Amino acid sequence: MSRVQLVELTVNGERHELAIEPRRTLVDVLRHDLGLTGTHVGCEHGICGACTVLVDGAPVRGCLVFAVQVEGGEIRTVESLAAPDGSLSDLQQAFSAHHALQCGFCTPGFLMLAEGYLAERPEATKEEIREVVASNLCRCTGYQTIVEAIDDCAGRRRAALQARLDAGRSA
Ligand code: FES
Ligand code: FES
Repeated sequence: MSRVQLVELTVNGERHELAIEPRRTLVDVLRHDLGLTGTHVGCEHGICGACTVLVDGAPVRGCLVFAVQVEGGEIRTVESLAAPDGSLSDLQQAFSAHHALQCGFCTPGFLMLAEGYLAERPEATKEEIREVVASNLCRCTGYQTIVEAIDDCAGRRRAALQARLDAGRSA
């Protein structure tokens, strides 16, 4: 007989009360209970990174975490990136501009990996970005365009921040 536990999850800013079995993984609950199918499942062994989501801002492999373990945390999936009107985030636009996806299966994982990483390290160098993206698997792109996209986005965010600082000084 399966034991069901009541769990409260906050996903993309929305709170959900769910009755789930403790054995269920976070990615399984996100996809099947909450209908957030943007997060993909590849290996289910922590290897490919297709299931990457953010938990309290940090990239986490959703197939390696039980949903009950992240109760109380802030979870973000790829669905949180675009604006409510559907317009793409700066990171998504950079992926598109640099052709950083082909089949797109790995893309949600790379986007959330990059989103979490750049938030923690906005001054990341291209070499650091290259090292970070090595944690996820992409069989199509050869990685170069993914690195270019993340580096471009990081540069634009730094330039925008600098412009805001300059405007604040001259005000
Ligand atoms: S599906 Fe989670 S790491 Fe591959
Ligand atoms: S774009 Fe196809 S696996 Fe990465």
